[in-house]
Amino acid sequence: MSSNKLATLANKRILLGMTGGIAAYKCAELTRILIKAGAEVRVVMTKAAMEFITPLTMQALSGNRVHHELLDADAEAGMGHIELARWPDLVLVAPASADFLARLAGGHAGDLLTTLLLASKAPVALAPAMNQGMWLNAATQNNLLTLQTRGYTLLGPDSGSQACGDTGPGRMLEPAALAEACASLFSPGWLTGLRIMITAGPTREAIDPVRYISNHSSGKMGYALAAEAAAAGARVSLISGPVNLTVPEGVQVVQVVTAREMLDACLAGIDAQDVFVGVAAVADYRPAEVVSHKIKKTTDTLQLSLVRNPDIIGTLAARSPRPLMVGFAAETDNVEAYGEDKLTRKRLDLLFANEATTTFGSDAICATALWHGTEPHQIMSNVLGPAGKSLVARQMLSLIHTRWLAAQQ
Ligand code: C5P
Repeated sequence: MSSNKLATLANKRILLGMTGGIAAYKCAELTRILIKAGAEVRVVMTKAAMEFITPLTMQALSGNRVHHELLDADAEAGMGHIELARWPDLVLVAPASADFLARLAGGHAGDLLTTLLLASKAPVALAPAMNQGMWLNAATQNNLLTLQTRGYTLLGPDSGSQACGDTGPGRMLEPAALAEACASLFSPGWLTGLRIMITAGPTREAIDPVRYISNHSSGKMGYALAAEAAAAGARVSLISGPVNLTVPEGVQVVQVVTAREMLDACLAGIDAQDVFVGVAAVADYRPAEVVSHKIKKTTDTLQLSLVRNPDIIGTLAARSPRPLMVGFAAETDNVEAYGEDKLTRKRLDLLFANEATTTFGSDAICATALWHGTEPHQIMSNVLGPAGKSLVARQMLSLIHTRWLAAQQ
């Protein structure tokens, strides 16, 4: 490990939350590495953690008194639990036991560490450590999913031989790897190097030189995803229909009007992408022919003949090799059922289904993420929001990143 990988830890305030697990002994070395890299470390231990390693050891290594009581008049007179919650730049829970993850997911506040985490606005990283059976249990996995979609970062676990004699996933990351992972959380760029193409906004299909068919898509969701992905270091190529939005900093944009132009722009760049996210509300039909002059209102009725537009995401998903394919489904009813159907029918890797009428043009969104599980016909789901489109965009990117990492294995 080169020392410059830890450079971003200098002067950072790290609150190390320790819960009960044999891996707690690794926190001694972890604290030493963090301090050596210039971080300030305060330690909070649960009762169970103190069964494995003494507060005195952690106090000697961190140079600060260890906090472990929620209701302690002496401690509250010094740095009280709310002050402590406001203090860190990062909360790192290591080891994070299965029981602790369950309590955190449930919003419990029965001890100092869970109370701090409920009160704190600092980013939180979790380094799980447990027996492989406990790790693989659906209850633990559900809790993790809940925590990840709330914005908690998961560091590890590793796989290998365990203290209990088992072999499998659940080992806490080694101290050096954990310190490096913490350092990378302070450098912008958790998506660094990932190439993402995003379509956004509506398309417009001309009827004559002054009229067109379109829809109410504002482009806000696609632009929020582009902005958040670029801010996280991804190389973003945005293929945008006509919208009234500013192109986010660092985003390459191709402006298009029609569905066929959007498809051509996507095809021109798709081979260089790791991920494709189709957020655009592509017009499903276009006039069979565009009248070259303005149509005069000389008749009481007007017949328009429409033809199907190409399905952009479907066309791209049929290619091989292809990037990770992520779709959206805006529906007015049966949101989840139509979403599941679209995930399978369009051969997508991940789909975000949402209710159309409350979402178009709005700054907020509630979406259900749907993807295939490891069992045949198994569909996994997770609800994101309701929250602002920027926050939900970050949660979506976190899921996209997880699916992309899984697809690389
Ligand atoms: O079939 P539906 O329009 O509901 O599918 C929505 C998803 O498909 C979105 O990801 C959208 O961007 C994409 N789509 C597309 N080309 C179309 C229609 C939809 O890429 N012609």
